[in-house]
Parts: sequence; structure tokens; C-alpha cells
Amino acid sequence: MPNDIKKTEITYDTLNSHQLQAIYKLTRQLASLGYEEDILEAILEDLIDETGAEVAGFIHYDPETDSFVPRTLKTRDEQKPDSIEFSQTVFRQVLESKEAVLTFDTRSDQNYAGTRSVIINKIHAILAFPLIINQQVYGILYFDSRKNRQSFNESARQFLSFFAAIASLALEQVRYKRQIENENILLKSKLENEIRFPTIVGESPVMTKLFRIIPKVALSEASVIITGENGTGKDLVAKAIHDASPRRGQPFLAQYIGTIPATILESELFGYKKGAFTGANADKIGLFEAVNGGTLFLDEIGDLAQDLQAKLLRVLQNKEIKRLGENTIRHVDVRILAATNKDLASMVKEGLFREDLYYRLNVINLIVPPLRERIEDIPLLVQHFLQKENSGNPLTIRREALKMLMNYGWPGNVRQLENIIKRASILAMDSEIKESDIQFDESVKGSKSSEYHGTMEEIKNKIIRQRIEQFKGNKTQAAKSLDISLRSIQAKSKELGI
Ligand SMILES: Nc1ncnc2c1ncn2[C@@H]1O[C@H](COP(=O)(O)OP(=O)(O)OP(=O)(O)O)[C@@H](O)[C@H]1O
Ligand SMILES: [Mg+2]
Repeated sequence: MPNDIKKTEITYDTLNSHQLQAIYKLTRQLASLGYEEDILEAILEDLIDETGAEVAGFIHYDPETDSFVPRTLKTRDEQKPDSIEFSQTVFRQVLESKEAVLTFDTRSDQNYAGTRSVIINKIHAILAFPLIINQQVYGILYFDSRKNRQSFNESARQFLSFFAAIASLALEQVRYKRQIENENILLKSKLENEIRFPTIVGESPVMTKLFRIIPKVALSEASVIITGENGTGKDLVAKAIHDASPRRGQPFLAQYIGTIPATILESELFGYKKGAFTGANADKIGLFEAVNGGTLFLDEIGDLAQDLQAKLLRVLQNKEIKRLGENTIRHVDVRILAATNKDLASMVKEGLFREDLYYRLNVINLIVPPLRERIEDIPLLVQHFLQKENSGNPLTIRREALKMLMNYGWPGNVRQLENIIKRASILAMDSEIKESDIQFDESVKGSKSSEYHGTMEEIKNKIIRQRIEQFKGNKTQAAKSLDISLRSIQAKSKELGI
């Protein structure tokens, strides 16, 4: 090392009271700053004055590319920062020694004489010291002066070395704080994700797949049809989609369509003007308006009357509604989720459901699997419902009783399981549910587990056969009771030879 480059040995005796004061002031200032950029800015601002340098800068060291990247620059005169060239030689020196480097009269120094930077800027004096984070050189604070060479002395070197330690600490703290904050944000969002589906219990592959799809579906604005048998959890899925969507801060409303008379349903959905019909004593806003900005869940969409199907289509196409008895067009921004346990596609074929509406609604189709296809979730669900019944001191269930539940066919799906657990909790004589406490509800259609053995096709055929028998061969009635078309039941019975 050339003799005019001095390595720092800190002996604090050389610090004068002015420098000590500057350190005190800066230390206090740094403690109040929360961002790395602010800290670097404050350091350079103060130290450029303190040292009398003309140029000061923070140069970040990137260990990946082994390169120096100037990040924050300050100049005393009006020199434009981009015309400054730094001495890479000094940077290397600092990087290797991890200590402050002070050099005077660079023109006579072999290390610097040939370099472009010296020739261009005629650097007379350089003071550079490392900022060290986690024992690695994070960057270099760099001061150079052509005019105030005399102030780049031993005392300044000591002062800056001392200061470097404090600045490094301040940076380390801030980075640590940021890291914790980021982790915090991550954890919070993770937690939110978990809170989002608090009641959808399930670990089976089919449910896991559904849980993975829900957040993706939630982020899109597309309409969704949730299909699944009775009691599979379609309502829960709809709520989960809303809660995971950007609309979660906005209202979520569910409207059951099922057996509600069309006129009542229409005034519920669209609202009305006073006097629109007998009994309309005041203006009333409908659900589309009430839920504006949020999500409307239409349950049992398959039951929607034909003329309301047309009206719903208009809402989906134009995002506009008209209250009953009014001509004013109102703009609404509502995401529609719909659920059905019917086969809408065949309803379309049979002319019972508008094809255009079907395609508008069915942008995404989520299928909630029946409980018999996720038997492995039963222990978890049972535990969940027992907890729901008595969160403080939940009952337990005997293994044999649990086995019984796992061997059942579950025509009423999760809702039926929930009811059976509720009943068993009441019947249980002590803190444990036994086989005798479990009573399957035989009124739920086809509830004997044996009926549900076999493939879906076999089960379907079995049900159709039973139903035709039940109605003594009247296929129209059998079709109606199963909510399928006469045509499809005729085809099926021909296939089955009945
Ligand atoms: N995976 C689940 N975890 C916890 N509870 C569930 C789950 N699935 C359903 N439930 C519960 O079962 C009951 C029925 O669920 P839900 O109302 O969502 O079913 P559905 O498919 O909408 O039924 P329907 O076809 O009759 O409208 C509710 O009490 C619900 O909380
Ligand atoms: Mg429902």
C-alpha cells in the first residue's frame, strides 16, 4: 500500500469538541429516521459540510456482480452528479481492507495517476470508508475534495471512521426493522387467508383443490356458478369467494331464489317505485342497488322464472337496472355468484333455462363435491361441529361411532352430518358420543349407505329405477320428482330395460 494511503486506527483523542457535537447531532438524527435513503441523505448532507468536500456520495457494493453502484450523490458546487467519476481503485481498497481510506495528493500516487477519474476531475484528496452490515461491506461513503485538501486530515479520518461505525449501525437497524415489517405484512396476509375460510373444513384432495381455486376465482370479476348437491357447502364457497375478492370491503348479499314467487323476487332484486303495484307504499331499492360495489349470491338459480332470467341477463350485459314502475335507468356494479344443485346444461337443452344467461353466468363453474367423495374429511368435520356445539368443552366421539359415520352415504351431505352431530350431542349421556347416539335421518332420500355403493352412473341408475317403482311406472311423475326431463328418464328406462 502506498504510504500516502492511511489505514484507520481509531484513537478518539483527536476528535475535537466540534466533531463530537456533530456526531451527537447526527446520531440523534439517525435514530429518528426510518428509511435507508433518508439516513444516507442525512449523513451525506452533514458530512459534506463537516469535511469541506466538494463531492460526497454513497456507493453501493453489489457482491453478486462485484461492482460499485453510485446511489446517492451530493455536490457542493453546481457540478452535475453524472459528470463525476469515482476512483475504482479507492473502492477496491476500501472493500478489501474494510477500513477507511484516506489519500492526499493523488496525482503523485501510482495507483491513481493513470486512472481516468483523476485526470478528469483532478482529485486532490479522497476520504472513503465502508458501511458494514452483517460483517459485509454494504457500501462506501466517499468524499473528495480538490480545494479543501487541508481539511482531509488525520482528525477528519478519525472522525469519519468513528462515524462510519454509527452509520453502519443505524443502517443495520433500519434494514432489520424493514425486514421485520415485511415479514409482518406477509404473516398478516397469510393469517387473513386463513381467516377467510374459517368454516370450510376439509383436507381431502378434492377440497384442497377447491381451496386452491377459490382465491384465483375471487380475483377475477367473472360470474361464477357453484354446483353441488344439497348441503355440500355452496353458500360457504360463495362467501369465501367474496371474502377473498377485492370486493371484500363491500356488501355480500345472498338471495334465495328457490320457491319465491316471481313477482316478489323481482321487487326484491330490482326495487320499486311508490305506487308501482298495490302495497308499494314507498320507493324501495332492490338488492342490486343495495349491494352495489359488492357481490350478490343468487341461490338456486335454476329456479329463476323465465322473464326474470331475461331481466337478469340485462343486468349482466349492461350493468343497468330499472326499478319496478320506473323508467330511470340506474347503473349498478355487482358481481354475480350463483348456485344450483340442478343440471343447468340439460335445463338449457330442454329450454327451461336461457342459453345466453347460462353462458353469461357460467364463466367459471366451481363444483363442490358431495360428502361421499370426501369421506376422509368426516373426522375433521365432526370435530368442527362438536366444537361449534360446545366450544368450551366439546364432546368426543367414540371410534366405532366415527366409523359408522364414515361408512354412511350422506345424501344430505355436510348439512346432514351437522344435524346428526347436533342431535347426537343432545342424546349423548356423557362426554362421549356413542354409536347409539347416532341416528341417521331416514327421511332424507336414499339415505341407506348401501345404496350409494358403486360408480356415480350405477347410483344414478339405482335412484331412477327406485323412483319409477315408487311412482308405479309413472315416468312423468318420477321425472318431476327427480327434477329431470321426461325425455331423459324415458331414455334411461329404455337403457335399463324397465
Ligand atoms: N366444508 C365445510 N366445513 C364446515 N361446515 C360446512 C362445510 N360444508 C358445509 N358446511 C355447513 O353445512 C351446512 C350447509 O352448507 P351450505 O348451506 O353452504 O350448503 P349448500 O350447498 O348451499 O346447500 P343447499 O344446496 O341446500 O343450498 C351449513 O351449516 C354449513 O356451515
Ligand atoms: Mg345453499
